[in-house]
Amino acid sequence: MKEIDLTLRIESVAFDELSDRERRLVEAALAATERAYAPYSHFCVGAAILLDNGEIIEGANQENVAYPSGTCAERSACFYAGARYPEARFECIAVAARGTDGLLTPLPTAPCGACRQALLEYEGLAGHPVPVLLVGRGTIYRIPSVQSLLPLAFTEF
Ligand code: THU
Repeated sequence: MKEIDLTLRIESVAFDELSDRERRLVEAALAATERAYAPYSHFCVGAAILLDNGEIIEGANQENVAYPSGTCAERSACFYAGARYPEARFECIAVAARGTDGLLTPLPTAPCGACRQALLEYEGLAGHPVPVLLVGRGTIYRIPSVQSLLPLAFTEF
């Protein structure tokens, strides 16, 4: 028997510790929360993706009366990025969410499992780790890569 240690080390940083490009991305994710369509959960999520062509693509969750038909902010952003700029590669991702009180969540909101899987595909296309910034009111988590959020991911068949 052999134990395999899967350890995730992340940084918890303040907004003013971010680089200029990270700040722009975080601001884009925060702005995107305003464009969520979340009449059922009232949980408004925004995602922003910096591409290597300099574009920032924003997405927000879009709900539906038939609940599973909606989509998360992260997937609305990454699928739009892929559809709009198929040649561009992901450089960095930011995610923010406002709760039912309308305020940014105290702790950072992390992507759901399906979004991690979807984002991982684009990290693979980028060919390098794509950092993820998870934005909370009190702190921002800087995650080194999408892959680190999804250990033992399904990647081939
Ligand atoms: N949601 C996202 O947009 N991203 C996530 O990673 C988690 C959840 C959305 C889906 C749904 O519209 C609402 O948040 C509540 O689950």
